[in-house]
Amino acid sequence: VTVYVPRDSAALSVGADLVAAEIERAAAEAGRSVRVVRNGSHGMLWLEPLVEVVTERGRIGYGPVAPEEVGDLVAAGLLDGADHELCQGVVAELPWLRDQTRLCFARVGITDPLSAEDYVAHGGLTGLRRALELTPAEVVAQVTESGLRGRGGAGFPAGIKWKTVLDTPGELKFVCCNADEGDSGTFADRMLMEGDPFTLIEGMTIAAYAVGATEGYVYIRSEYPDAVRTMRQAIAVAREQGWLGGDILGSGLRFDLFVRVGAGAYICGEETAMLESLEGKRGMVRAKPPIPAITGLFNKPTVVNNVLTLASVPTILADGAAAYQALGMERSRGTQVFQLAGNVARGGIFETAFGMTLGELIHTYGGGTRTGRPVRAVQVGGPLGAYLPANGLDLPMEYEAFASAGAMLGHGGIVVFDDTVDMAAMARFAMEFCAEESCGKCTPCRVGAVRGVEVIDKITAGQDPDGNLALLGDLCELMTEGSLCAMGGLTPMPVRSALLHFPDDFTARGKPST
Ligand code: NAI
Ligand code: SF4
Repeated sequence: VTVYVPRDSAALSVGADLVAAEIERAAAEAGRSVRVVRNGSHGMLWLEPLVEVVTERGRIGYGPVAPEEVGDLVAAGLLDGADHELCQGVVAELPWLRDQTRLCFARVGITDPLSAEDYVAHGGLTGLRRALELTPAEVVAQVTESGLRGRGGAGFPAGIKWKTVLDTPGELKFVCCNADEGDSGTFADRMLMEGDPFTLIEGMTIAAYAVGATEGYVYIRSEYPDAVRTMRQAIAVAREQGWLGGDILGSGLRFDLFVRVGAGAYICGEETAMLESLEGKRGMVRAKPPIPAITGLFNKPTVVNNVLTLASVPTILADGAAAYQALGMERSRGTQVFQLAGNVARGGIFETAFGMTLGELIHTYGGGTRTGRPVRAVQVGGPLGAYLPANGLDLPMEYEAFASAGAMLGHGGIVVFDDTVDMAAMARFAMEFCAEESCGKCTPCRVGAVRGVEVIDKITAGQDPDGNLALLGDLCELMTEGSLCAMGGLTPMPVRSALLHFPDDFTARGKPST
């Protein structure tokens, strides 16, 4: 019997290793032979550890399974897919999975992340093989035609970025993957790296071929030790398979890949700070221009893309740009891997074409709040994203729709708050976060964030609320207009949205000034 138990760190944090060991022990005790495969997580995090048993009907899921329940479950017939109160039925048929369009995450949860054989059996390398039949310029054209935009947050067209690197002459070029996933409520990069690392390797190899790069780096945040381990193991397997190194797949292509680990600074997710860090320096933001596409790592032309951007490329090449472009709405094409977090009943990963409303994601799939209280605010796009009120949930998940609502889609992280949230405290947190994480290079951000905390404290303490609110407005404008990068430039977004949608929170507790 084949049994799947995830090795994803979300599953590990709730005892997946112990569950796997218990299954082997209980099966041996019952005289049954089992093969336990450690897969990635399907992304239904409320069901983790989700144990799956392969049966004639398909993969039957049980979850969430506690290690101490395994003995009883095996006795009750888990290894035969028997019914049980923890039995979820055939996993692939669960509405949460069935209703998704999984392209980037097609294999996550299904395959053994480190099995080259499994990868190829599930369509791996089709995109790379197809790319190698085209010229580099044709590959870039495919990516452009697909409409793929940078999934890290800014949504810049990936094909245009790649064309800039391709058209910039240089003996040495790089492909750098930004896996410094620092936004609150985001975990898709981590899950992809832990659940299907070969897809990222394949995407980076296609990028290397398209722009003429020979070396690549995956920059992973230090808080992701499992992802670091899995990526390193996957790179070693890929080298053994001839998927990395020299003469890749017999095509003559030369490209190798290395993992580098950050040191805990949020700002190293900003691409130029990440490049500084990769060069062994302190992670400080560089002024742009020049853009990394022209003057990047060690001043060489460099593709810097997020994990999800690069991991979407194999499917684009395999199925063609038109198939990808056919999904989504307006200028947001293809799918995005949305991440549901915060006070939500069913948190996890939901990959779908752009255009589904925020409310549908939160209520239909997320099941509303975990506390059962009404949703009051939702923050989309990380700690620098806007807070949307409950009546803003009919917004389609699409870059421009969010921008015109004064918000941003960012990396697709959705953090839900119920009606107990204090929005003045959340606004203060945005300034506090910026003060903590600022790289210190420019004054509006370094000093502005500290002043921002002070001014919000004065407002909530009731000290000259009108004057201090006006001051906060000025400060937000200055930070937006005068900061060198998105850290200081976007911090006012959560503050302003909290002031706009929840003004009472700033005054209700205030005492009249004396
Ligand atoms: P940006 O708009 O300055 O640049 C976007 C990308 O396009 C960059 O890679 C830039 O080098 C490239 N680019 C711009 N013009 C180009 C051209 N003519 N040719 C080729 N490439 C060109 O945005 P930035 O500062 O890189 O990112 C800001 C975003 O980062 C925010 O919107 C936020 O959503 C996101 N973010 C994501 C986080 C995460 O954990 N994923 C954390 C914090 C912020
Ligand atoms: Fe550094 Fe902040 Fe200026 Fe960005 S905005 S360069 S993080 S000081």
